[in-house]
Amino acid sequence: MNFAAYQSLFHTQKAPFAWVEMDALDENILTIAERAKSKNIRLATKSIRCRFILSYILDKLPYSFGLMSFTIEESIWLAEKGFTNILLGYPTLEVDLIKKVVSNPQLNAAICFMVDRLEHVEILNQTASKYQMKANICVDVDMSTHFPGIYFGVYRSSIQTNRDLENLLEKTKDFANITWKGLMGYEAQIAGVGDNFPKNTLMNGIIRFLKRKSLPKIAQRRAECLAVFKNKGIELQFVNGGGTGSIESTLKEKEITEITVGSGFFQSHLFDNYANFTHRPAVFYALRIVRNPKAQIFTALGGGYIASGATDSNKQPQPFWPEGMKLIKNEGAGEVQTPFEYRGKIPLKVGDLVFFRHAKAGELCERFNELTLVRNGKIEQIVPTYRGEQKSFL
Ligand SMILES: Cc1ncc(COP(=O)(O)O)c(C=O)c1O
Repeated sequence: MNFAAYQSLFHTQKAPFAWVEMDALDENILTIAERAKSKNIRLATKSIRCRFILSYILDKLPYSFGLMSFTIEESIWLAEKGFTNILLGYPTLEVDLIKKVVSNPQLNAAICFMVDRLEHVEILNQTASKYQMKANICVDVDMSTHFPGIYFGVYRSSIQTNRDLENLLEKTKDFANITWKGLMGYEAQIAGVGDNFPKNTLMNGIIRFLKRKSLPKIAQRRAECLAVFKNKGIELQFVNGGGTGSIESTLKEKEITEITVGSGFFQSHLFDNYANFTHRPAVFYALRIVRNPKAQIFTALGGGYIASGATDSNKQPQPFWPEGMKLIKNEGAGEVQTPFEYRGKIPLKVGDLVFFRHAKAGELCERFNELTLVRNGKIEQIVPTYRGEQKSFL
């Protein structure tokens, strides 16, 4: 398939729209399964945000192991829709929603809460005690690493050492309405930081060096924290780590029982520049050219779908097809219009569709009600995103 073939495939489609290349998604599922060897994969819902695709990936993965969700409301909704083994990846203090989970045996069995400080555990214990239930909990251990003058990692968990974990377990030892189920450590500095950018040999080298130096520290912290649980006689059911960018290194730690992966399935463009893997771009969005203010400058309607995070140019969408489209530096992808420069060979005109990729995988679905699924050059199906199901959780 080429650019012209996609123009004709989508000629009746109302633009803008988002589409999934199912052959590429299938290939990514296989590649990720191979990368993970036989380790269980927990699917990060934030990086998909479409129920149909979540089920599709879980069905196709040989060793899938439930979901990592991002809000409690989402977790409840997914559990009510029949998903099981849902690890809520981030802490919650929403007492009414906690009540909803712990008062309902089916929801309570399906959902495991994330904690990293006393307040998180207290609210779960107190709420569960009102229903004579036990809330399932997982501790999130900070995995960032420190080098002179460099904080290599993210700011999340307040459990930074095994001592912090010991203190938390000590303070909660008499809590009768919780069950410790797991330990999670997300090594964001390995999993979410590219190290193979074109024309950036020096920076790539520095990042790879820092990653290499971090890995033994990460493994040590995880092992020490697990030892804390063992010493207290607490048997955990799972040890979770990693993300798309770290599968190879995460699975080397023998205590790891599962790896979380999300972005690599859709392969948004922030995940293009890693030395350890290549996946196929699988999700795109199409805009229609509505203006042509000047020779070689075209303006498409919509498109300003900037990714979250520190806002530098890599959070902008990436022009994909036709090759050679370039965003205009002073305008970028705009709120209602996206101008671009194009000097390529394929003649473009007002009315044509042009194609872009989002920087982050699931966030695109917050902009569209539907995903058009394309397989073998044919539109196979149109499925709702979370937003299309009137669900916008964050
Ligand atoms: C707790 C946690 N685990 C894993 C991941 C990895 O997800 P992905 O594979 O989509 O990068 C993330 C991403 O932010 C995360 O927050």
